Amino acid sequence: MAIRKVGVLGCGLMGSGIAEVAAKSGFDVVVREVDQGLLDKGMGRLRGSLDKAVEKGKLAAADRDAALARLQGTTQIADLAGCDLVIEAIVENVAEKKKVYAAVGEVAKPEAILASNTSSLTLTQMAMATRRPDRFVGLHFFNPVPVMKLVEVVRTLVADDGVVAEATEFCRRLGKEPVQCKDNSGFIVNRLLVPYMLDAIRGYEEGIGSLEDIDKAMQLGCGYPMGPFTLLDFVGLDTTYYIAEIMFEEYREKRFAPPPLLKQMVQAGRLGRKSGRGFYDYAKK
Ligand code: 3HC
Repeated sequence: MAIRKVGVLGCGLMGSGIAEVAAKSGFDVVVREVDQGLLDKGMGRLRGSLDKAVEKGKLAAADRDAALARLQGTTQIADLAGCDLVIEAIVENVAEKKKVYAAVGEVAKPEAILASNTSSLTLTQMAMATRRPDRFVGLHFFNPVPVMKLVEVVRTLVADDGVVAEATEFCRRLGKEPVQCKDNSGFIVNRLLVPYMLDAIRGYEEGIGSLEDIDKAMQLGCGYPMGPFTLLDFVGLDTTYYIAEIMFEEYREKRFAPPPLLKQMVQAGRLGRKSGRGFYDYAKK
């Protein structure tokens, strides 16, 4: 089966990025949000990102217009009926995801592939909720989706080899570099990145250096594009906390346990860039 039409569930940061990249790569895209307000916000972000690419001379205005013409926003799951591939990028909540897969399963073509962009939940439990577990894979994109080249392709115990191959080829057609991963919480990147970010917080609590110096040390000493605290603020402290909780629950190992400071910052509403304050204060930046 050739993938031509792609559905995206969720038009948040990741969903809008995936929809943008797919439309730019020539796929017809239907992106679904739960209500019109969230859809308008997500589509606005997507248009803004395409406009910026045009301003920077990375995309021709005609190509932006063609990408927008291939994009349809909707609040109706029924509009995903004609899709060959549906990628879910909603909140990291298993119950919500299972609910949405059941609804998509009702309308999607029997041969359609379903994929999840989950960053830390294991996939086999979700595959079983789709009623087509062999046609379900993980496709984990990275933020910002238009820039980051990687997609983790996650294979469950019950996935069909042909489906994994098609999903991998789809990533290449998006101009991304796929890597193959086992269905373990965190896959490759978050399995390594999350303990690193949590350890940076612990180190800071122990007084190994200031926020700025720890960031500078990792940027200049290791060539990382961002230090750990800039990255934590970029990813979102609530997102990181949530991922860490899921990974801790899965592995029961201290290195995945969210430090108290992270929890308190989330409770205080200091979520990072998106809330204007995290480890750094963006009102001052
Ligand atoms: N959309 C499109 N393009 C963007 C963009 C966006 N949201 N953000 C930045 N860019 C482009 C800029 O236009 C610029 O392009 P140019 O070089 O052609 O002008 C280029 O990216 C570099 O951007 P900037 O000059 O503004 O800033 P930086 O050099 O600091 O790069 C960055 C920004 C690409 C975000 C870089 O800092 C970076 O790679 N940071 C690390 C990001 C990372 O680790 N992401 C993964 C997070 S973990 C994750 O997503 C998994 C999840 O499960 C938690």
